[in-house]
Parts: sequence; C-alpha cells; structure tokens
Amino acid sequence: MTTPAAGAAGLHAVVVAGARPNFIKVKPILDALEADGARTSLVHTGQHYDDAMSGVFFGDLGLRPPDHHLEAGSGSHAVQTAAVMTAFEPLLRRLAPDVVVVVGDVNSTLACALVAAKENVPVAHVEAGLRSGDRTMPEEINRIVTDRLSDLLFASSPDGVDHLLAEGAAAESVHLAGNVMVDTLLACRERARRRPVLAELGVRPGGYGLVTLHRPSNVDDPAVLDGLLAALGEIARRCPLVFPVHPRTAGSLAGRLPDGVRTLGPVGYLDCVALQTGARLVLTDSGGIQEESTALGVPCLTLRETTERPLTVTEGTNRVVGCSPAAIVAAALEILDRPPPPRCPTLWDGHAGERISAVLGRAVPRRGVPAARSTTGCDTASPVRS
Ligand code: UD1
Ligand code: UDP
Repeated sequence: MTTPAAGAAGLHAVVVAGARPNFIKVKPILDALEADGARTSLVHTGQHYDDAMSGVFFGDLGLRPPDHHLEAGSGSHAVQTAAVMTAFEPLLRRLAPDVVVVVGDVNSTLACALVAAKENVPVAHVEAGLRSGDRTMPEEINRIVTDRLSDLLFASSPDGVDHLLAEGAAAESVHLAGNVMVDTLLACRERARRRPVLAELGVRPGGYGLVTLHRPSNVDDPAVLDGLLAALGEIARRCPLVFPVHPRTAGSLAGRLPDGVRTLGPVGYLDCVALQTGARLVLTDSGGIQEESTALGVPCLTLRETTERPLTVTEGTNRVVGCSPAAIVAAALEILDRPPPPRCPTLWDGHAGERISAVLGRAVPRRGVPAARSTTGCDTASPVRS
C-alpha cells in the first residue's frame, strides 16, 4: 500500500470560477493548495466575460490565466447552467482530478458541482451553509443544491455549520474554515490603499457613500428600482454617492439617476476595496460587499429583506434595512449622524485558504491511493470550535 503524501502533495484539484466574486474567492485557495504541493487546474466557466467583470480581476489579484475556459456566457438560468455543464463534463473526464472545488452560489457553482457529482469526483464547496431562507433568490437554490451534492463543506461562519448539520450533512464533512473573501481583502488592502481612484472621482475619504446594486429583485423591476433611486437621491443631498454599475443594472438606469449620484462602470477589485475603505457608508445588495465592509469596519446598509450573512449584522457593521425608500433614508441618515463602531468576526483572519487546503490534503483520496483518513470532523479547520 502506498503511504499518502503529506500536505496536499499529489493532489490534483480542479478549481472553478465563473463570475466576479468567484475570482476573488478562488485566489487564496489556489495559493494555499499550491504552497502545500497540490496540482491545480483553474477552470473559468465564462459566466462573466467583460474585461470589467472578469479580466481586470486576474491582473488585480495576480491570478494566473485560467488553464481552461468554458466560454458559457450569458443566458436564462437553464441555458447558462446547461452551457457550463455541457462544456465542463468532457473537460472533467479528461482531467480526471481528485477533487473539484467550487465557491459561492452562482450558476457556475451549481453546474460544476452537479457534473462532478455525477462523474463520481468528490466536490468541495467553499462558502457552504449560507442560507437567506428566501427561495425566490436564484442563489439560494444554488446554495442548497450545491451543498447537498458536496462531499466536503467549508463554512465561512458558525451559522453555516448549523444550517448544514440541521439539513442532515454528515458532521465529518463540515468544516468551519473562515472566509476566503476576507483572505483576499487582507492580502490586497495595502495595494488598494495606493490606488488613485478617489482622487480621480473627486471624492475624499469619509466624504461619500458607495452604492452597488445587482440583485434581480432590486434592479429588474422598474417600480422597485425607482423607489431605491429615490432613496439614494434623498441620501445624496447629505452625502454624495458613488455607484459603480453592474451590467445587469446598467440598462435599467437610463434617465433615472437622481442628482448627487455619480455612476461609473464596474470597477476593478483594488478600486472597489479602495472605494469601500474610504466610504462613510456603503449601500448594497451584494453578498461580498456586506462581508468586506464589515471586515473594513465601514458601516453598511443592505438593501434587501434578508441576508445569508447574518454574522455581518451580529458581529459586524451591517444592517439589513429592506427595500422601503423611507426606511433606507432613515437608516442612512442615522448612520451619517452616529456611525456604528467597527467590529469583525473572529475567524475572518486571512487564513481560510490555508485551512481549506489542509483539510483537502488530508481528506481527499488521491486516485488509486487510499486516504489517511477520509474525513476530519467539523472542528478540524476551526480554531473557534476546537
Ligand atoms: C451573477 C450571479 C449572482 C452574483 C453576480 C455577481 C447567478 C444566478 N447570479 O449575477 O449570484 O451575485 O453574478 O456579480 O449566477 N453581463 C454582461 N457582461 C458580463 C456578464 C454579464 O453584460 O461579463 C450581463 C448580461 O446581460 C447578463 C446579465 O449581465 O445577461 C446577468 O449576468 P448573469 O451572470 O446571468 O447574472 P448576474 O446578474 O451577473
Ligand atoms: N466588486 C468589484 N467591483 C465592483 C463591484 C464589486 O470589484 O464594481 C467586488 C467586491 O469588492 C466584492 C465582489 O466584487 O469582492 C462582490 O461581487 P458581487 O457584488 O458582484 O457579487 P456577490 O458578492 O453579491 O455575489
């Protein structure tokens, strides 16, 4: 019998990224796996493809070009998910890796997890267990199904662990690993600080608010979007707003912008971190920006009825304010007058990628080589729970 290698040596991991937040999440996982001696294949599904939604992140993050590109592109949920699956299946057969690592909750995440599960390749889901409780969100469906299909479940917060166990996941498959998005944030914060984006936009630190909106429930319905824009206009009378616009939102905004709200195209990662760092408050429906603003200690209002990231509320600077214009304006004015104190969840320490790699190295059997131990228990990756 061959002795399993130490660390992740001998492991071949396919790591999947397809949409903007995925690029940010895979970087620390790739780095840690490679540092531990694993072979990695980076697959870009092509869900996002504009330079501003994809290419810029490779430069900003120092991410190597993808080893494989599936060029799935845009479409309805079924069309896009099927396009990713159709292209990923033959590639996966050819690569025959030991494990497929998927991150987050986008269509590419679900599509690649489903293909891998049916090819009997172990699936590791990073950012497992997040639940908004709102199945009208496409991401909630993607989260639930991806978690059900996954062999290794890496939660970023204790509530994620609780959801997974409550839904029947085996305890030994669940690992509280921390937050890979925060790994990247901490690694890039200093470089972001040197970006000239604030000066280029004519704003100064603490002198503006940052807005991002792209949830279909907020931007696809003109009546909802009009209400949100009216609220932004009111807030902008007290504090000018900078609004990098997601392509889903761009078409809906034409001619509707209130005074005091400055729009620009989607910004690169370093500029986005710089803009968050300098903001007096953040108004967003983004999952990642709820987390980043908490990690940066910047007040955040989430313009949604729910969050799948409650830790940003209970241990951070986030407040879920809903979509009523009056409630949004009242909460924003309150923050401008009395900002909440900065605080950050303990396990968001910049080392999630390393914990994930350690578990993968230990738990994933190499093809043709038996594993030392097939699983390691939900406390193994968790300094908090050990
Ligand atoms: C997707 C994810 C969402 C995530 C977001 C991150 C799903 C179901 N949704 O939403 O969870 O928060 O990415 O930003 O996976 N488009 C472009 N250029 C691009 C990409 C998209 O113009 O590079 C336009 C297309 O018109 C496309 C639309 O944006 O139809 C929506 O793109 P899509 O990937 O389907 O969903 P997102 O809204 O980006
Ligand atoms: N982001 C960015 N440029 C932008 C808006 C967001 O670089 O114009 C970054 C942001 O800092 C975070 C990630 O993209 O790291 C969040 O992605 P997004 O809001 O698109 O998706 P979500 O997190 O809601 O799935």
